[in-house]
Amino acid sequence: MLRAEGLDKAYGPTTALAGVSFAVQAGEVVAVMGPSGSGKSTLLHCLAGIVRPDSGTVTYDGRDLATLSDARLSALRRGDFGFVFQFGRLVPELTCAENVALPLRLAGERRRSAERRAVEWLERLETADIAGKRPGEVSGGQGQRVAVARALVTAPRVVFADEPTGALDSLNGERVLELLTDAARDTGAAVVLVTHEARVAAYADREVVVRDGRVRDLAGVA
Ligand SMILES: Nc1ncnc2c1ncn2[C@@H]1O[C@H](COP(=O)(O)OP(=O)(O)OP(=O)(O)O)[C@@H](O)[C@H]1O
Ligand SMILES: [Mg+2]
Repeated sequence: MLRAEGLDKAYGPTTALAGVSFAVQAGEVVAVMGPSGSGKSTLLHCLAGIVRPDSGTVTYDGRDLATLSDARLSALRRGDFGFVFQFGRLVPELTCAENVALPLRLAGERRRSAERRAVEWLERLETADIAGKRPGEVSGGQGQRVAVARALVTAPRVVFADEPTGALDSLNGERVLELLTDAARDTGAAVVLVTHEARVAAYADREVVVRDGRVRDLAGVA
């Protein structure tokens, strides 16, 4: 479904990716592991068409992302991809339900139905009680669940999650991962899950290790 071949990316003198290849199938959860600074976020951003690689190709459903216009690419990101960012922030002025509804509203859905669907996702993420609160009024774990609900509400075909549990204690973090990967498997979405924690990989079907911008693919760990 989503495939990268021979990706290179440098930031000035720093090599972030050096000949990385990667693929994920529909319904598959892949953990991208590796130490800090190894290139995990850069790989995810290239796969999602947020960062253009210096060389190499990313194809989604057989389409080379480099051949798409900026408008087509952002339509693809809005319609087909969902994101839980490493430094992902909720919009502080909006309630949690409004934050989750935001991608639907941006896609032109009416407020009432968008917020109804948003609340359904908050229920699924076990946080319906905070729907009317603002992000500043909820705990870190609750905010993380809201971010996951926001990533899933558009029924994306690929979910990109960059350290989705980075700020959480392990019990809460594992529950969020379980909810994220269960929801993705239910909807047949592919998941690219970036983490440097080994325990997170237990939620993946497959594990890929990035080290100094290069990838080492491990056998299935499901
Ligand atoms: N916008 C940028 N400008 C300059 N250098 C960058 C930029 N983004 C990443 N880098 C560098 O590229 C390398 C890979 O960074 P990347 O963010 O992909 O690592 P990571 O594996 O996600 O690390 P972490 O686990 O800490 O999030 C690092 O050396 C980093 O400093
Ligand atoms: Mg990172």
